[in-house]
Amino acid sequence: MSNTHFSDDFDFENRIMDTHEIPEDSAEGENPLRPKNLDEYIGQEKAKENLRVYIEAAKIRNETLDHVLLYGPPGLGKTTLAGIIANELGVNIRITSGPAIEKPGDLAALLTNLNEGDVLFIDEIHRMSRAVEEVLYPSMEDFAIDIITGKGQMAASYHLPLPRFTLVGATTRAGQLTAPLRDRFGVLLRLELYTPEELADIIIRSAGILGIKIEYDGAIEIASRSRGTPRIANRMLKRVRDFAQVMSDGVITLETARTALDRLEIDELGLDQNDRRMLEAIIRFYNGGPVGLETLAAAIGEEAITIEDVYEPYLMQIGFLSRTPRGRCITAEACRHLGYDFPKGTVQGAVTQPTLFGENN
Ligand code: ADE
Repeated sequence: MSNTHFSDDFDFENRIMDTHEIPEDSAEGENPLRPKNLDEYIGQEKAKENLRVYIEAAKIRNETLDHVLLYGPPGLGKTTLAGIIANELGVNIRITSGPAIEKPGDLAALLTNLNEGDVLFIDEIHRMSRAVEEVLYPSMEDFAIDIITGKGQMAASYHLPLPRFTLVGATTRAGQLTAPLRDRFGVLLRLELYTPEELADIIIRSAGILGIKIEYDGAIEIASRSRGTPRIANRMLKRVRDFAQVMSDGVITLETARTALDRLEIDELGLDQNDRRMLEAIIRFYNGGPVGLETLAAAIGEEAITIEDVYEPYLMQIGFLSRTPRGRCITAEACRHLGYDFPKGTVQGAVTQPTLFGENN
């Protein structure tokens, strides 16, 4: 079993746009849409081609692959890639997550149960406790752990060798990793939001697997509203199929895709009610910004981390939101899209994307 986490208040039915993993997305649920090898995996060309070389080289040298850190917004296929890495290497994968490893002993149990060459996938690795991290360092570096049992005079220390393994860590926030942990990854791969064309290819592949008939225009329409995220695209595909089956002959055309997505209140750029609510709050309550992240979160009743991880990457990518040192600002394009005048005096800060390891707020 993997330890998948999602927040308690998350409404699975109504948040098609949410990028949290739900059970049908998860690795062990045998999601048939997950590509199993690099050839089947669409997009992320840079990461994919580099990975192909590293895997090939490790295999030629008969060594384990260096530890890999995958980072980028949620829903882009980090778990999928971890599975592919294991498959391509011909080894088993063990899946867990930072918050699920509560004590050093939990990690020790995981590590001692690995076989030579296995992949250990730790999702949300930035959420691991310090105490657990301390055990992870030597195991990554020396493939050994020191276990202390008993207390006081009865205390004893054991040096336990481990099989060589590859750690694949995934995080939406590379900036929150401690430097010592970050430095122990030999391979750093940043996943980017997908283009509509890549997403359309993913949708057509998924439709083929699920036996859904779809025209290219229909796929592009869904893709353009999926905010660069395969997890959203695949979820939308299933919902649009429902509309296509009930409202027409079951084939997803441009027309059925448009009607379905309009009914789901996902606009032509992929914004849903939550994005619109947040952008409108900046315009109406804060005169276009700047407004601090926490203030904005409180104003719309959302967690700051959700705004940062789920809403912002896409809104910044399409140039609707900018981050300035003084807070978030709306852009003229966003106002135009939402039908508002651009507030006078709005600071037009440089659009700052999260940088490699510093997500400066
Ligand atoms: N399904 C989800 N992500 C995918 C990807 N990157 N390539 C192919 N199918 C996918």
